Amino acid sequence: MGAVGVGAWATITTVNDDWDDYTQMFDSKKIDENQPLEKIVILGGGWAGLNALRKCSGPGKDVVVLSPRPHFLYTPLLAGSAVGTITLRSACEPLRALVNSAAGRSHSATFVRADASEIDVKNKTVRATTGVNGSMELEVTYDKLVIAVGAQPNTFGIPGVDKHALFLKEAEDSAKLHAKLLCNLEQAAALMRVGSKNDRMRQEEIDRLLKIFVVGGGPTGVELAAELADFAHSDVAMRYGQDVSDRIRIVLVEAMPRILAPFDESLANLAKEHLESRGVEVRTGVAITSVSDDEATFAPSTPRNASPEDKAKALAQAKTEQSGALVWAAGIGARPLVKKLAKSLGQNDLRGLKVNSSLCVDGADGVYAIGDAALSGFAPTAQVAAQQGKHIGRAIRDGTDSPFEYKHAGSLVCLGKGNGIAQLLAPKGTASFNVWEAIGAPTVGPNGDQRAVTGTPAFVLWRSLYWTKLLSTSSRLSLLADWAKAHISGRDVQEPVLQRRQTVVKLPSVESFGTSLKRNSTIRVINEKAEIQATAPQKKRFWII
Ligand code: FAD
Ligand code: NAI
Repeated sequence: MGAVGVGAWATITTVNDDWDDYTQMFDSKKIDENQPLEKIVILGGGWAGLNALRKCSGPGKDVVVLSPRPHFLYTPLLAGSAVGTITLRSACEPLRALVNSAAGRSHSATFVRADASEIDVKNKTVRATTGVNGSMELEVTYDKLVIAVGAQPNTFGIPGVDKHALFLKEAEDSAKLHAKLLCNLEQAAALMRVGSKNDRMRQEEIDRLLKIFVVGGGPTGVELAAELADFAHSDVAMRYGQDVSDRIRIVLVEAMPRILAPFDESLANLAKEHLESRGVEVRTGVAITSVSDDEATFAPSTPRNASPEDKAKALAQAKTEQSGALVWAAGIGARPLVKKLAKSLGQNDLRGLKVNSSLCVDGADGVYAIGDAALSGFAPTAQVAAQQGKHIGRAIRDGTDSPFEYKHAGSLVCLGKGNGIAQLLAPKGTASFNVWEAIGAPTVGPNGDQRAVTGTPAFVLWRSLYWTKLLSTSSRLSLLADWAKAHISGRDVQEPVLQRRQTVVKLPSVESFGTSLKRNSTIRVINEKAEIQATAPQKKRFWII
């Protein structure tokens, strides 16, 4: 009953926030056919970009969405997909379908699978690359540009991370991690079944293969560690044997004195206790200093402003341990495109694009930055990105310019099956009914204006909320099927196929990267490298657009 109630509440919240979708359907505003269309270009099809697209598309708008990723990624499901609790199919929504549905409302909405590489704010153009190894260059003109390219994992220049670590940011990261875990398990199980138990080298190799480091005790690292622990306890024991399961070691490494910095300390401690009860070793105050193919080196962490002597002292205590897999979940940083633009606009802080209160980029006319790409003073979360996307989409649709107001609903972390923590907003002294107050949830947070929900209720809340917020009925059905399957017959232990396909196969099937490019006047092919020409010498290589 509780789950149904929470699900209904989440549904109502979702619908309320998107009420204008329904009113717009019946909006009879007539568009002057002779007026030129407003060219809206959205870079990125993630939480921010997609929400902007859904709100801004409408009569009189010509919207182009550029993204190298052909799907919208529902990031909260990534940790589960890395251990087979859910399939990536449930977490990915084809962007083409989402853009097509927006096209129904606007004059034209076009999806182009391409990487934006340069923004010229003076001439209002964006350059992008696509095709085989980025061999085709496009130029797109805009009246309004929405930069929603998100962020990328931050390696802080730590040696070996780029080359040897696994990540949990994109769908392919999750597939790679899943494949690596399954591969290590197969190898370890094989080594355990053959040969002598007294062979020290063999035993060391088994221990190495089964030792997994998760670096970063933020929400990503904690959710992943919890999923890994569930996987080790139930599915590894069931599929590979209890002896393999017993030898798995999961180590969560956090440089700060405690995990889950954005959460109240009492909730973070609860999460730590839960992880430890599931066999995860939580090491705080320790930073990774280098990574190799099969080893990780740690040292006591030092504050950023520590003296060189103190840093040297900490490094002298560095220890190296064998590692079978190391997942880097130590935070995010700006993408090269964002850094390049920020620099060209004279920004000192290159962690994102500086925006004003209306999310307009300082010094660039008609350019907005939203989500993780923006330095807007809000946390880099899906909740913020989605709200900023809607705000900018509405501003473009209605021709308004109002300050963005963030409505924080709360933060949730899933601690694996049946457990979680939630820190939810419950404004003090409010006269209105507050559901968390009503159920007697304890007060937390620095101002005592938030409520804590933990354990099974938090888990149910997490699942119902994220299920409700999925973008399509087919994803909802797919996710329900995944959860049911994992519950009844265990997690998916099918090793993902990791062969990546080319964006564009071969000319002249070049249109496969976008919709009806020929008919869109804002996009122009400006360069194609010889590589492509060589693949189809006798075929038409350029089109007149
Ligand atoms: P993204 O969603 O990353 O989208 C960026 C888009 O830009 C993508 O489509 C990408 O292909 C495209 N792009 C990239 N480069 C270019 C380019 N050069 N040109 C054009 N397009 C480009 N937040 C929460 O609030 N709740 C959660 O439960 C939660 N869970 C998370 C779990 C994980 C594992 C991770 C990694 C993050 C999680 N987050 C969560 C954070 C949340 O996912 C991000 O804050 C959110 O994705 C930011 O949205 P965005 O649109 O700015 O970027
Ligand atoms: P994060 O920045 O929140 O956490 C990274 C952690 O790694 C930090 O605690 C940092 O101290 C630690 N770290 C950095 N370098 C290190 C090193 N060398 N060695 C050891 N530890 C190191 O990053 P995360 O978790 O990826 O989250 C990114 C954003 O996405 C956040 O805003 C977060 O709130 C959001 N998110 C929200 C989720 C949710 O609401 N359930 C789930 C996942 C992410």
